Amino acid sequence: MHPCSTHALLYSTRMLKETLEQGQQLTDAALERLIPAGTQRPASIHQAMRHSVFAGGKRIRPILCMEAGRMISGTLPAGIEELGAALEMLHTYSLIHDDLPALDNDDLRRGRPTCHKVFGDAIAILAGDALQTQAYEVLAKLKCPAEARVRIIEEIARGTGTVDGMIGGQVVDLESERVKPDVASLEYIHRSKTAALITASVVSGGQYAGAAEQQIAHLRAFGQSVGLAFQIVDDVLDVTQTSAQLGKTAGKDTAAEKATYPALFGIEESLKKADALVRSAFASLEIFGSRAGTLKALAKFLVERTK
Ligand code: IPE
Ligand code: IPE
Ligand code: MG
Ligand code: MG
Ligand code: MG
Repeated sequence: MHPCSTHALLYSTRMLKETLEQGQQLTDAALERLIPAGTQRPASIHQAMRHSVFAGGKRIRPILCMEAGRMISGTLPAGIEELGAALEMLHTYSLIHDDLPALDNDDLRRGRPTCHKVFGDAIAILAGDALQTQAYEVLAKLKCPAEARVRIIEEIARGTGTVDGMIGGQVVDLESERVKPDVASLEYIHRSKTAALITASVVSGGQYAGAAEQQIAHLRAFGQSVGLAFQIVDDVLDVTQTSAQLGKTAGKDTAAEKATYPALFGIEESLKKADALVRSAFASLEIFGSRAGTLKALAKFLVERTK
């Protein structure tokens, strides 16, 4: 490799590490402020919310959101970490419910026993509900112009809803167990259950920073490609990694006969599809020129990740 490109590579690896660490710290500090203390009455629900939120998630959605905002504004927009925290609350709610016995029935999440294993099904269901409610309270108070705030709330509500959103995808995911999926349904599941919230994260970060309509359209295309690639890789890791590595039970998808990319295409072909999606995600960012460096590095990281 040419020495210059080696240098560029090392530099961007260090930058990426800093972006991830700073994004995680900002998100965690906001979550700490925004979620009621574990001593606040009724303590059980606040402890359950905190058990699942503060268990070391990657904070990918807040980081994508904040970096989209930074790309549009040129600097990190003040207060955007609260938007990131709200997205992480919604994501964590989806995980708590995803793990329930009635859904994927998982015992391990983020390296800890799942919420329902520690607090019981009733409190886990309510903790998921409560994180969702808390997220919208935070969104309603975001420190951005009121018009942007309303559009952000609409974007996120749609991304987590039943029509092409997270809940809709979860429904079809469950209804596709033990059914040989066709490519179109598989793509529908992944785009809805995972890519929709990732897209809403990127788009809402842009909206917070005052992006123009055309910029939003490019951010949306980026989010859709990266989001689908993200879930394809999640499916691959379920097959290739151990539970200790993932912090969640590996091999679950095969056991539950889930509709996954590796089940339909095999591992190698699935990874090729994820790579192609990242290339198309890069293309969506071309209009932003050199300012898109961080989002591109994040997209690449998301398909190369090992957990
Ligand atoms: C896991 O999401 C669930 C999916 C949508 C694939 P993450 O891989 O982002 O999980 P955490 O937040 O890091 O635990
Ligand atoms: C879950 O997909 C997507 C969500 C909306 C939570 P998975 O069921 O594959 O997520 P993991 O593998 O349990 O994290
Ligand atoms: Mg699931
Ligand atoms: Mg699951
Ligand atoms: Mg999975």
